[in-house]
Amino acid sequence: MAAKTNAGFTVPGLSLANGHKVANALQMRIHAFNDLQLTLKHAHWNVVGRDFIGVHEMLDPQIDLVRAMIDALAERMATMGVAPNGLPGALVAARSWDDYDIGRASTTEHLAALDLVYTGVITSMRKTIEEIGKLDPITEDILIGQTGQLEQFQWFMRSHLENSAGELSNASARTEKGAAKKAK
Ligand SMILES: [Fe+2]
Repeated sequence: MAAKTNAGFTVPGLSLANGHKVANALQMRIHAFNDLQLTLKHAHWNVVGRDFIGVHEMLDPQIDLVRAMIDALAERMATMGVAPNGLPGALVAARSWDDYDIGRASTTEHLAALDLVYTGVITSMRKTIEEIGKLDPITEDILIGQTGQLEQFQWFMRSHLENSAGELSNASARTEKGAAKKAK
């Protein structure tokens, strides 16, 4: 029998259509998180400069937690009756953003660019919460908890870019390269 993406069930209390709709909304968040954890590892390997060790070591716990978030969302999808896709080809085909734009660069440049990466991921999380929150508060609760963690990770980035007046050195930058250049 041919494999189908959608199962003939979802969680109790939701219609099949709504359960699968919520599950499908999680697929793009899984793609975004898979992209994020790869990007954070890339930065972990490519930061250079005097503050190397602090930034290099700050990134790994974030990567571990983002990987745990992917696992939670993928298992939630399966619980709701839709097969999650964790494959790189599907990620690249579905994403609306480009690869991270910074190679070997100073800690400041990577932090300034990663701040923008987090802004994109967090903004999309809030949109997804708005879209599916009314349909399924259980999934909403998972997304809210994850978004709070991601906002804290972004604060870690921003604290390196912030001065005593509360201004960010990459403020108003629109691209990763632009942010890195401004903050340098
Ligand atoms: Fe490492």
